[in-house]
Amino acid sequence: MGLNKKSVDDINVKGRRVLVRCDFNVPLKNGEITDETRIVAALPTIKKLIGDGGKVILCSHLGKVKNGPNEGESLAPVAKRLSEKLGKEVKFISDYNVTGADATAAVAAMNEGDVVLLQNTRFRGKEETKPEEAGDAFAKELADLADDYVCDAFGSAHRAHASVAGVTKFITEKGGSNVVGYLMQKEIDFLGNAVENPVRPFVAILGGAKVADKLNVINTLLEKCDTLIIGGGMAYTFLKAKGYEIGKSLLDDTKIDYCKEMMEKAEKAGKKLLLPIDTVCIDDFPNPIDDPSISTTIVDADKIPADKEGADIGPKTIALYADAVKSAKTVVWNGPMGVFENPVLATGTKEVAKALSETSATTIIGGGDSAAAVNQLGYADKMSHISTGGGASLEFLEGKKLPGVYAADNR
Ligand code: 3PG
Ligand code: MG
Repeated sequence: MGLNKKSVDDINVKGRRVLVRCDFNVPLKNGEITDETRIVAALPTIKKLIGDGGKVILCSHLGKVKNGPNEGESLAPVAKRLSEKLGKEVKFISDYNVTGADATAAVAAMNEGDVVLLQNTRFRGKEETKPEEAGDAFAKELADLADDYVCDAFGSAHRAHASVAGVTKFITEKGGSNVVGYLMQKEIDFLGNAVENPVRPFVAILGGAKVADKLNVINTLLEKCDTLIIGGGMAYTFLKAKGYEIGKSLLDDTKIDYCKEMMEKAEKAGKKLLLPIDTVCIDDFPNPIDDPSISTTIVDADKIPADKEGADIGPKTIALYADAVKSAKTVVWNGPMGVFENPVLATGTKEVAKALSETSATTIIGGGDSAAAVNQLGYADKMSHISTGGGASLEFLEGKKLPGVYAADNR
C-alpha cells in the first residue's frame, strides 16, 4: 500500500529540534527490559536523524500508569539500553512532569546529533484524555520543545493521544513538519500489502479469548482472505453457533448470532472458514495459569463433555491448520490458539508458529501474544514481518484509520 504521508526522508532536520514519538512500551521485570524488540525497531529512524544532524528528542509511554507517576514505570531503563544500542549518550530527563524546566534546559543545551529522552508521557495523565479536555495543553508543551515531529510509534498509532497525534497541530501552527518514521512505513507496507494486495491464497489466522475483541477484524479479513482460520477461546462461540455443546468452554453468548452471520457470509462468498475439529479439554482453568501439572483430554469438537472446558486446539486441528498454511502464499496471524501461557496448553500455538516458520509464504505476525510466542520459540528470523503493534496492528487490519498515521502531513 502506498502510504501518502511524508516521511523522515522528506525533511531536512539539520540543526533542528525533532520530537520523535516511539513506542518504548517494553516489558520489564525487576527493572530489567525482558524484550528489547521495540527499542531495536526504533533505531533506524533515530540513527537517520542523528546522522542528518538533528537534535533528537525522544518520547514514549510505558505501561498503563494507573496510579500516577512511579519509578516502576519510569523510562530510565530504556534510556540506558538505548544508549548502549546507539553507542552514544541518551540524556534522560527524569522529571515526572515530562515537559517543563528540566526538559527545556536540556533541549536548549543540545548540539546536532544529540539525543534526549523525555519521561513517560503517561505520567502527565492528560495524555490519555481527549484533546479538547486537557490533552491539548500537554500536546502544546511537547510541541514547544521542537521544530518538527516524527511519529514512529506504530504500536501506539491507534491511540489519539497528545504525544501521538495531538502534538501535530501545534507543530503545523509554527510551520514545522509532521512525518512518519521508517518503522511506521515498514509496518504499514507489510500489513497494508497483505490485506490490500495479497499474493493468493491468502490465509488469515485469528485467535485470542473473546469474539467481541475481534468482531471487525473477522468481518474485514473474511472479505479480503481466501481462508480464515479461527482458534483460541473465541472458537468455542463459533462451535456453539454451529449447534455443538461446548461444556464449560469460553462462550460469548451475545455473539452467537454474529458467528452464525460470519459463517453464512463465508459460505456465500465461497471462502473457507476453518474451525477446530478437535480440542484439548481441561476440568478447570489452571491456577496459577502456568501450572504444568494440569491434566488434559482430547475430544472431537462436537463431543466436548458438559463438565469440561476447551483450552487448546487438538492434533487433528493442528494438522488441518498447518496444511492450510503450507499451500498459502500470504499468511497473517494474530492471537494464540489456546491458553499458551501454560506449557501443557501451548502446543496449538507452538505448532501454528512452526507451520508459519516452514512455509514459503509471506508471513506476517500481528503483534501482541502471537509475536511473543514466535519470539520465545526462536522463529522470529523465519517470519517475513513481526509487527511491533498489538492493538494497532489489529485496528489496522480492521481497516481503521490510525490517528498516529493520519496526523502526519500528506505528500
Ligand atoms: C501496546 O503495548 O499495546 C502499545 O504500546 C499501546 O499500549 P496501550 O495499549 O497501553 O495504549
Ligand atoms: Mg495494548
